[in-house]
Order: sequence, then C-alpha cells, then structure tokens
Amino acid sequence: MPTLAQQHILLGISGGIAAYKAAELTRLMIKAGAEVRVCMTEGATHFVTPLTFQALSGNPVHTTLLDPEAEAGMGHIELARWADQIVIAPASANCIARLAHGFADDLLTTLCLASKAPLHIAPAMNQQMWANAATQANIATLKSRHIKLLGPASGAQACGDIGFGRMLEPEQIMQLLQADTSALPLNGVKVILTAGPTREAIDPVRFISNRSSGKMGYALAEAAQALGAKVTLISGPVALQAPPDVTLIKVESAEQMLNATLAHMPEQNIFIATAAVADYTPQEVVDKKIKKSATELSLPLKRTQDILATVTDRYPELFSVGFAAETHDLMTYARGKLERKNLQMVAANSVAGGKVFDQETNALEVVWRDGQHSFPEMPKRELAQQLMQLIAARYHSFKDIRSCVLN
Ligand SMILES: Cc1cc2nc3c(=O)[nH]c(=O)nc-3n(C[C@H](O)[C@H](O)[C@H](O)COP(=O)(O)O)c2cc1C
Repeated sequence: MPTLAQQHILLGISGGIAAYKAAELTRLMIKAGAEVRVCMTEGATHFVTPLTFQALSGNPVHTTLLDPEAEAGMGHIELARWADQIVIAPASANCIARLAHGFADDLLTTLCLASKAPLHIAPAMNQQMWANAATQANIATLKSRHIKLLGPASGAQACGDIGFGRMLEPEQIMQLLQADTSALPLNGVKVILTAGPTREAIDPVRFISNRSSGKMGYALAEAAQALGAKVTLISGPVALQAPPDVTLIKVESAEQMLNATLAHMPEQNIFIATAAVADYTPQEVVDKKIKKSATELSLPLKRTQDILATVTDRYPELFSVGFAAETHDLMTYARGKLERKNLQMVAANSVAGGKVFDQETNALEVVWRDGQHSFPEMPKRELAQQLMQLIAARYHSFKDIRSCVLN
C-alpha cells in the first residue's frame, strides 16, 4: 500500500488552539517515514514554540518571509518546490480566508501560492466561526480549486461550545493522508519490471541459470508501489514473496519472460529490466534425462532474444531503465548500453568477485543522457527506494520534455 515514506511534507501551522496537536501530527508523519519541514504563522508561535517542531522534525522551523538568513538556507521558492505535499493543520479561519483570496503576505500563504504540490487543510475553529457565511464561502472557493479538506469534526470545543469546527485528531489526519494517493509521484503511473534469473532447460531435470536472487527487482517493485504506481512484476524463479497488490507473472525461461513482458507491455509507462536473463539457451531441450556415458559432453547453445532491446525497439516512447552487471569499466559499459539500447537510464553494479548476487546490500552507478548519480553501498530495500525516487523524477522530466516537443 502507498505510504508517506520519503515524501517531503511541508506542515503549515496557523494560530489556533489546536496548534498543540500539530506536535503529535509531526511525530506521526516522521514515524511514517516522511521528511517534514514545518512553517508556522506568527499567530501559531504564540500557541506553541518553533523549538518543539524543530526537535520533532529534525529540521529548522520556517516562520518569516522576509528573513535574509532563512533565504540563505532554504529560500521560500526552494521550500515551495521541495514539498511533495502541503498540509495545514490547524488551518485557522484567518488562514483559510487568506488562502481563498490568494494572499501572499506571510511565509505560509506565499509558499502555498508558489507551490505546485497538492494542499490539504485541517480547519480548526469555533463552531460559529466555521458556520459563518464568510468562512463557508472561502471553503467553497478552496474546494473549487481542488484543495482537500481534512475535517473538521464535530464535538466539544475549547471555548465550551459544541458543534462543527474541531480539528480532526492527528491519527485521523494521517489515515486520510495515507489513503490519498494523488500526491504520490507515481500516482496513476504503470510500472512493469522483470526480476530474478531465468532457467534454460537442458533436459527434464537440468537447466542453466545464474546467481540472481531477484531481491533488487522485488524491492524496486515494492518501492514503485509505495510511490503510487500500479506494478506488474514478471519474475523468474526466486524464493521471494511479491508485495501484495502487485500483478505477479511467474516465468522460467528467457523466452517465456520475453513473451510475458510483451503481453503486458501495452499501456505501461515505465519499464525496469532488473532480471538476469540468460544470453544463451540450449539449441534443443532433450525430452529424456541425459544419461551419464561419454567422458565429455558438449552442449550447443544459441543466443536468446534480447528482452530490453526488443521492448525499446517496439515501444520507443516508454521510459526504459536497464540494469548492467559488470566486473570492470562500469561507467563505460553503462553509457554504451544506454546508447545502444536506446534507454532513458542505466543502473550499473559491480559484480567483480561474485559481489551483488544474493547479497543484502548493493551500490549503484546510475547514468542517463545528461547526468549521473552514485548510490553508495546500502541495504537493497533502501537503495531501491532511493533509486525509485530518482526514476520517478527522471520520468517526469522525460514526460515534460516529450510534451514540449509534441506541442
Ligand atoms: C486563545 C485564542 C485561541 C484562538 N483559537 C482559534 C482557533 O481555534 N481557530 C481560529 O481560526 N482562530 C483562533 N484564534 C484567532 C486567531 O489566532 C487569529 O485569527 C489569528 O490572526 C490567526 O492568524 P494566522 O491565521 O495567521 O495564524 C484564537 C485566538 C486566541 C487569542
């Protein structure tokens, strides 16, 4: 299921009595794996101190727009771009009014105007303020701009009134945020991956295979799904469980992997080929077990069809990512593969001395046409999450460039 893991959340806090609940919300977001930066209105700082949020989020808290020192750190536009989503909790009546009218007279409202990130607001105010026609008109304006409302709830209020206007509890806000996949970078994107080794049959009991465990491909499938993608995994024989909700197609040979990949290819957006596909397969599969007789046995092999090259040839508009396992000259081979197979990205790992296969950790050199990135050695699951973030970012810029060219 998609999560907030690795999401950049800008948490806006405005001046209401429920501001203290934002501390628990920050803690829950961090626990869910999000990176949180907090922006407080001046009003909010009278209810709770920025220090609380600095300690909880592990990042400096942003409070003023016209602060040269803050601009030298992470400026307001940079912060607006950094955010994958903005959540304002609590959102005061005043904050809601200023958002509805497009004000940019403090840091929080300026960030909201300057960011393309989806905006969620959790209103919190006295029931009469909530019911007021002015507030209701402002809420209607925000809804018409697809700003998402989290609550409010009904119940006893700090002022003694009872009615609508209470901020949702932090756990309820988290549930709604986690159920909303629209802010995830691969929301609506279809990703197909190949993973694991292939088995090329020699006779009914023997085969040629390799040491691939499929761990990297399965971790990438999980990471893609966590970013909101709809994932199809074409897998060779491995001892791994596919993440729930992934469409899993099990295959054995290189030929079966090619056929399954092509059958599921139409309408995919991203193709990631992590499988260690056999380059050669026996010319013939003997239908009875080969008996031990001669002192030597030769096994004529033939080339298998290259899955990656076949796919990129038939689907040149696809964002295709290849993996390269090399024992030497990593970058040279990776760049060569990028050009030769018309790929958008190549992730190369060193397999010198049997490294990588069936290991828990890995390091990668990733190249694309006008850039590259090195991932140091780390657990495969963590590496897959970071690589998937990079793939998502490159996919979006590839799509933007394509749509500029086509328009
Ligand atoms: C004790 C106290 C509690 C308040 N609680 C709320 C509240 O829950 N919701 C709200 O909209 N305004 C509340 N206000 C009023 C806001 O603090 C005020 O409108 C302020 O200008 C909001 O500024 P901001 O939206 O820039 O943070 C409260 C004011 C006081 C003095």
